[in-house]
Amino acid sequence: MGSWKGAELSALTPLRALWLSLAAVFLLTLLLQLVPPGLLPSSTLFQDLIRYGKTKRSGPSRPAACRAFDVPKRYFSHFYILSVLWNGFLLWRLTQAVFLGAPFPSWLHGLLRILGAAQFQGGELALSAFLVLVFLWLHSLRRLFECFYVSVFSNAVIHVVQYCFGLAYYVLVGLTVLSQVPMDGRDGVVIHCNHRIPFGDWFEYVSSPNYLAELMIYISMAVTFGFYNLTWWLVVTYVFFSQALSAYFSHKFYKSKFVSYPKHRRAFLPFLF
Ligand SMILES: NC(=O)c1ccc[n+]([C@@H]2O[C@H](COP(=O)([O-])OP(=O)(O)OC[C@H]3O[C@@H](n4cnc5c(N)ncnc54)[C@H](OP(=O)(O)O)[C@@H]3O)[C@@H](O)[C@H]2O)c1
Repeated sequence: MGSWKGAELSALTPLRALWLSLAAVFLLTLLLQLVPPGLLPSSTLFQDLIRYGKTKRSGPSRPAACRAFDVPKRYFSHFYILSVLWNGFLLWRLTQAVFLGAPFPSWLHGLLRILGAAQFQGGELALSAFLVLVFLWLHSLRRLFECFYVSVFSNAVIHVVQYCFGLAYYVLVGLTVLSQVPMDGRDGVVIHCNHRIPFGDWFEYVSSPNYLAELMIYISMAVTFGFYNLTWWLVVTYVFFSQALSAYFSHKFYKSKFVSYPKHRRAFLPFLF
């Protein structure tokens, strides 16, 4: 029983393979950005797919063929609408399963099995997944609130592929949480839409504390899963590299735009990167 459980813990399920691949792709992309310019051929489409928002505008000039696939960055709110609805639905089903013993609908059960849901017994893991799903749902709700009432979006854009990826991400991340269950304020006045140097708090240490905080949220979920959940650590690894990439671009953007940008400030990790 113990070795069977051990084998299951280390098995490369489809979900683990997916998160591992995403983490690897974002790590590779980050490393490619660190190569001095000119050493490797640069692709406009590739840059268009990995940059978004202010760092897309500050990147290489974009041909009309690329601009044709632009979607307003304010559509970020769609990710959180979808997440609140979809992950709210999953949370509702999980609540019924954990507290009332109701089975998942057969299509959801089948989908989770295909994705590689855990098969061994373990009631405490269901409770951990419940807590993580509550956190994820509250996080999405908070982000949705921010999109509507706090964030002031300029005319920044994202690629339609990035938009679809964002939608798929929030569907997949909820399913990943569920697969761990064993089977059996914008009320101020808008003065301008320019990007300025942010100061204060964590901004004194890194250019993108919001990306760092995002990473910490996902790490706290790993702690809720009991610290030894390989699948969730793969999600964390993906979030680490995707947020590191965005932070790297943001940092470069600030350094190229502001000559007085604080020299000691790092991109993503205080004192390190
Ligand atoms: N889990 C994931 O895979 C994932 C992926 C992507 C994002 N996220 C999370 O989603 C959240 C938002 O991401 P984001 O990339 O939109 O963050 P962001 O680029 O920092 O933008 C957040 C808001 O601040 C504005 N802004 C950015 N830099 C500014 C500056 N220097 N001066 C004034 N305003 C500025 C933006 O306006 P503009 O839009 O006009 O620049 C936007 O309204 C983050 O917490 C991030 O961690 C998570």
